[in-house]
Amino acid sequence: MKAFTFGTFTAAVVIALAAAPTDARDIAAGAAKAAEVCASCHGKDGNNDAPDFPKLAGQYEDYLVKALRDYKSGERNNAIMKGFASALSERDIRNLAAY
Ligand code: HEC
Repeated sequence: MKAFTFGTFTAAVVIALAAAPTDARDIAAGAAKAAEVCASCHGKDGNNDAPDFPKLAGQYEDYLVKALRDYKSGERNNAIMKGFASALSERDIRNLAAY
């Protein structure tokens, strides 16, 4: 009985670990953040007709991650986007780009 209990516990831990996301991206969280912070300029769904604000929809995920990191680090210099990118965590960036 004791061995059975231990085995059950181990199985539960293994299942819990397997269920944890292997990749730290949360598309729903990215969508929520985009609607909250980014949509006013980049448009709902990342599509905007205003020429001043680049379209984000359909861009490669890697490209968006890099662009946001570069704004944050100052490697890419834009006063507007630096402010927003600086407020993002690495996790936010990955979620946003995935979205
Ligand atoms: C106040 C308006 C404004 C807001 C809000 C804003 N952006 Fe931007 N964004 C801009 C402008 C203007 C540019 C173009 C800057 C440049 O030329 O480098 C830009 C550029 C970008 C780029 C680079 C696009 C490309 O094609 O290289 C990314 C990625 C981006 N924004 C993501 C975001 C995300 C994600 C958010 C929300 C956290 C956000 N932006 C919020 C105005 C805004």
